[in-house]
Amino acid sequence: MSTSTTSTPMGLLTDKIALVTGAGRGIGAASARLFAAEGAKVVLTARTETELRAVTEEIRAEGGTADYVVCDLADAASVRGAVDTVLSLHGRLDIAFNNAAVSVPPAPLADVPEADFDLILSVNLKGCWLAMAAEIAAIRSTAGSGAIVNNSSVGSLRGNPTLPAYGAAKRAVNSLTESAAVSYGPEGIRVNAVAPGTTMTEMIKRWVAYEPDLLTRLNAKTPLRRPAEPYEVAEAAAWLLSDRASYISGVVLSVDGGMQA
Ligand SMILES: NC(=O)c1ccc[n+]([C@@H]2O[C@H](COP(=O)([O-])OP(=O)(O)OC[C@H]3O[C@@H](n4cnc5c(N)ncnc54)[C@H](OP(=O)(O)O)[C@@H]3O)[C@@H](O)[C@H]2O)c1
Repeated sequence: MSTSTTSTPMGLLTDKIALVTGAGRGIGAASARLFAAEGAKVVLTARTETELRAVTEEIRAEGGTADYVVCDLADAASVRGAVDTVLSLHGRLDIAFNNAAVSVPPAPLADVPEADFDLILSVNLKGCWLAMAAEIAAIRSTAGSGAIVNNSSVGSLRGNPTLPAYGAAKRAVNSLTESAAVSYGPEGIRVNAVAPGTTMTEMIKRWVAYEPDLLTRLNAKTPLRRPAEPYEVAEAAAWLLSDRASYISGVVLSVDGGMQA
């Protein structure tokens, strides 16, 4: 005899309290939308309030739960304040996607302006570390266990002659990911990273402005012969943050259309 049920299927992230950095546009906005659609209560952060408000209102209009807090990853107090806001709103933090990053114009190593190097390290590396530290403290003091995903890049995995500071910062993010996975695994906190390949966001469009043939060059290196849409990276992050990835920690997962194959 077969049985049927009318209950609503559980979302991948049902009832998780989630923080997403860089959620005003691109991969972060797609992730905030997806996490909310999968049942998470999402807090979005970035610097540009108009973008955060627009994505938050869109999620709410779809029936999701979302709030935003303006935060600059280059400012330690601002990062800690964003995590505190999650705790004020929801009393708990379960999962976080440290997605935000900046890019600078491409240049070979010896031509990188010092200010660009400092900006990349400050936001893409130190900002990620600040966020991880605050999130781990928040998870430990509330939910007790949880998961973090950092947004790295395929540009971290080999020499990166066009974006050397960016590649170095992202490789260091991979190291922070592994270190945290080892330190906090015993407490049930999983830490992973995604390493996207070419993804159609403003960041890649800004790079195309310097190298008009960029997409042709990158697509030729990509077995799937196309860039990712932001939601395709968000799907990988959602899965890694979900309980369905319960035995995965310390991994840097390429989401790159096969570019590393
Ligand atoms: N697109 C790609 O092809 C690609 C490939 C590999 C990896 N990635 C990585 O994917 C992640 C998302 O990139 P994306 O392509 O979606 O870029 P994007 O469209 O430029 O979005 C970046 C997000 O980060 C935020 N952000 C930048 N600086 C910040 C700061 N100082 N404090 C707080 N938030 C900040 C931005 O908002 P505000 O400017 O308003 O602060 C924005 O919401 C990044 O880590 C990037 O390195 C992208």
